[in-house]
Amino acid sequence: MIYLDNAATTWPKPEAVYVAIDSAMREHGANPRRGAYRMSVEAERLANGTRRAIAKFFNAPAPERVIFTLNGTDALNIALHGLIKPNDRVVTGPFEHNAVTRPLQARGAGAQVAAARPAGALGIDLDHFRSLCRERLDYVVISHVSNVTGCVAPVKEIAAITHERGGVLILDAAQSAGTLEIDMQDLGVDVLAAPGHKGLYGPMGTGVLVLAAALPVRPFRQGGTGFKPESLEQPAEYPWRLEAGTLNLPGIAGLAAGLRFVQSTGVSEIAKHGSQLAQILSARLRKIDGIAVFGDPAPRTGVVSFRLAETGAALTGTILDASFGIAVSTGLHGAPAAHRAIGTFPEGTVRASFGQFNTAADVEALLAALQHINAAPNPAA
Ligand SMILES: Cc1ncc(COP(=O)(O)O)c(C=O)c1O
Repeated sequence: MIYLDNAATTWPKPEAVYVAIDSAMREHGANPRRGAYRMSVEAERLANGTRRAIAKFFNAPAPERVIFTLNGTDALNIALHGLIKPNDRVVTGPFEHNAVTRPLQARGAGAQVAAARPAGALGIDLDHFRSLCRERLDYVVISHVSNVTGCVAPVKEIAAITHERGGVLILDAAQSAGTLEIDMQDLGVDVLAAPGHKGLYGPMGTGVLVLAAALPVRPFRQGGTGFKPESLEQPAEYPWRLEAGTLNLPGIAGLAAGLRFVQSTGVSEIAKHGSQLAQILSARLRKIDGIAVFGDPAPRTGVVSFRLAETGAALTGTILDASFGIAVSTGLHGAPAAHRAIGTFPEGTVRASFGQFNTAADVEALLAALQHINAAPNPAA
């Protein structure tokens, strides 16, 4: 099977990730919350070592404000439900995932959506964004990289505008953590939410919420932390404030190994590899009659969305899988807003997304398969 759905979750994982998960379960299988015995202390050390590694990776000022979460969605929910109040003024981008739009809707926050740039809808219209920020501003919530088009948001400019207006910037780094350099302090990111299982190469069931400042995030989950157990209140201190219950230690061990893989490979190398494959695919697809490509003509990340004129997105995906053994994502990819912005709603697109283990041969195989489908669009005929 040729796996081209790395924007959903990277697969396969580096060998060291499987080994780390296995050994965490066999050798550090105790509860990491303040046990008095060595195996528990070792487990806690592993969790806190990973916290420090994550903080360093994103240049976040305080490891204790790295919160382990279930995935990117969970990290966003903790931040959005924990910070935003119903009458707060929130500005978001045009390409947001449901992991942003649904919690905002549920909070009852009147989110103003910045427009996409008209020409080809290749990015956020910064002038419009700036004009939305002229009024009172509490939060800006923005995805760093669109999971539909692969377009990269100008985070530094967005952060500067947000801070000028006294707002807090919450970055959905689901598609950028591990695939683009992120220095939270340099970019001006106040809150970062990222899955562990995509570009950080950890297992599913992992994610992180990273707070640059000691923001008073209200916990919506209460319970045991091993810290101040005598109190009826959830501790105010981080990370315990936002981490209740037993941690996913095997997942955290896998995430630590995934992060080591990313660091030893180099984020710039990973970015180069993904964007090179995406650029080859995008350029070649644009030359084929009957195929429309959406997004940046020179993708900076490994995501390419396209559609065949004669074959629906879902059917294209089914044929790619059944007849060619190629796994891609089809439809709205959980981001209907992005499809509305680029004019592909409601059908969505076919999305190929590359990871570090894909090769140029995978791109050739996809191109050959698509040419075949494009030439004979109706398999039943
Ligand atoms: C832009 C974006 N935000 C958030 C998410 C949610 O991440 P997770 O699947 O880890 O919950 C995704 C997942 O595809 C995404 O692409």
